[in-house]
Amino acid sequence: MKPILFPWHCCSSLAEKVAKEIPCEIGRFTQRRFPDGESHVRIQSKCRGREVVVLATLDRPDEKTLPVLLLAETLHDLGAKRVGLLAPYLAYMRQDRRFRPGEGITSGYFARLLSEHFDWLITVDPHLHRISSLSKIYSIPTQVVHAAPYIAEWIRENVEKALIVGPDGESEQWVSEVAKQAKVPYIVLRKIRKGDREVKVSIPDVKKWIAHQPVLVDDIISTARTMTETVGHLRRAEMNPPICVGVHGVFVDDAYKQLIAAGAGSIVTCNTIPHPTNRIDLSQSLAGAVRRQLALKAVRRSRGFR
Ligand code: R5P
Repeated sequence: MKPILFPWHCCSSLAEKVAKEIPCEIGRFTQRRFPDGESHVRIQSKCRGREVVVLATLDRPDEKTLPVLLLAETLHDLGAKRVGLLAPYLAYMRQDRRFRPGEGITSGYFARLLSEHFDWLITVDPHLHRISSLSKIYSIPTQVVHAAPYIAEWIRENVEKALIVGPDGESEQWVSEVAKQAKVPYIVLRKIRKGDREVKVSIPDVKKWIAHQPVLVDDIISTARTMTETVGHLRRAEMNPPICVGVHGVFVDDAYKQLIAAGAGSIVTCNTIPHPTNRIDLSQSLAGAVRRQLALKAVRRSRGFR
């Protein structure tokens, strides 16, 4: 029996691409809210004895997680063999220690919650900083898809004389890999976060790079304060309007507009969270990870990274 893929509403376009690369059926289900705000889930496809993949990217996690867990539990209840979660963006990864007394270490609590309801997890570049791997907090099998080869390919094809700029030490893991694969230089700045929407980024010395095209690369663009601050420095240093590349474009409130207003030349994201800036498609790699997880053969030969 073919596996069955249940895409959360926001993920239908990614689901179509992923499904083309896996021998799977797209599952049908409805999810709605009762008038009192509780969730109602109804599965309309047969899932007994089948491998099930739930595709749900977890931006805006507080509104999405409970309904997604209810979907998973319904699938188990209706006899699915295993229920895996394909979450291109994995939320709650940044609060990975008690920064101030009394705070919760929510990355661990969230990991425990998902591990209780799913049999495996695949995600894209989770924010691993003080935790070395997902297996330290997730008790289910996990796989990580890396966006760096795809970002490097996009830079090679679209940017001449690129200088990759990482806005903070945490970004070095992505920035150095992208720069190596795109065969271009990189610099990494220092950032101090003073609040949710207040960051200070060190002023870069870019005199020797003035003829280069700056490409800021970060894993998450959330309030975009990190990027707007960095774009401001580079513009004041009279560099070209920077291209801003985020693996995950969360873009809270008017973050996108603010980044354009700060002087970004263009903004590009991977399609882990649906947004008009999605230019870098990770569907082949996500499908490859699902096939590995389910020990399936490729549907057909397709170009690009696996
Ligand atoms: C930080 O730890 C991350 O790597 C990003 O730099 C951060 O999430 C960006 O957040 P914001 O867009 O709100 O500045």
